[in-house]
Amino acid sequence: MQWPHKDLLDVDQLSTEQVAHIFDAATHFQEINSRPVKKVPTLKGKSVVLFFAEASTRTKTSFDMAGKRLSADTFSLAKSGSSLVKGETLKDTALTLQAMSPDAIVIRHWAGGAAQFLAERLDCSIINAGDGRHAHPTQALLDAFTLYQEWAGMDFKGKRVLILGDIAHSRVARSNVKLLTMLGARVRLCGPRTLLPPRVEDWPVRVFSDLSEAVRGVNAIMCLRLQLERQQAGLLPDLREYSRRFCLSERHLELAAKNARVMHPGPMNRGAEISSSLADAPQSVILDQVANGVAVRMALLFMYMTRQSPV
Ligand code: CP
Repeated sequence: MQWPHKDLLDVDQLSTEQVAHIFDAATHFQEINSRPVKKVPTLKGKSVVLFFAEASTRTKTSFDMAGKRLSADTFSLAKSGSSLVKGETLKDTALTLQAMSPDAIVIRHWAGGAAQFLAERLDCSIINAGDGRHAHPTQALLDAFTLYQEWAGMDFKGKRVLILGDIAHSRVARSNVKLLTMLGARVRLCGPRTLLPPRVEDWPVRVFSDLSEAVRGVNAIMCLRLQLERQQAGLLPDLREYSRRFCLSERHLELAAKNARVMHPGPMNRGAEISSSLADAPQSVILDQVANGVAVRMALLFMYMTRQSPV
């Protein structure tokens, strides 16, 4: 199958059928990750720049591993240590990188729209690894892939997924709402009013302010990182009060559907948005999300760099 897209900017560029292809490809590449020697020559001779102008542990490392497991050459560029700190513009940085002829640039940037800005100017594939509050498509794809594996297929219809916490500042929430809704899930949001986005009533979701109500009957709960810097901005009156109302714990899970899964994109603030014991409980698929991130990013690198599907 030919892959029609040059760039991955957000999940709403994809059809349900294309998402299913990505999941098939990730399942295919997952097998490589369980071998004693986790390397195949599939992308030998291709090069990927990992341009991370913001901090990252999971996304950057998993893209790096994904590229290397497919034998692509990966090159890392962070804000510190790059000429961004000398005032070089994003455009000049991007044109400089393009002059070295990479096949793809994976970009994380603090500005919403940074990935699109590059996509419109460069010939190589641009993969958005998180831009401002706008989008984090590869996180949403690995989250949905985790649920796809938990639920044994594309049967998202009628499933209820709760996204909990700081929705307003979360690119993870935005991409997940789009993708889960497209796949047929019913999405709920819960958080304090000050951490809900403006015009949330226009989103295709149900909004709750009470966690015990929000969690009732849900099949999965995605906790979001509480961005502690928001307290300084006056959006959180008191961290202890926030945790009392919105920290997910075992008692909430008793109200959820049987076998409900607990997710978190990381990094976590244990005890603030999720209880430490629940993060490590059998219902938690947080480390499965991390593992699946490598397989999904292998699939994406393959499909965007070769413009083909491996299966
Ligand atoms: N989920 C996520 O984007 O984590 P990192 O910031 O560690 O990449």
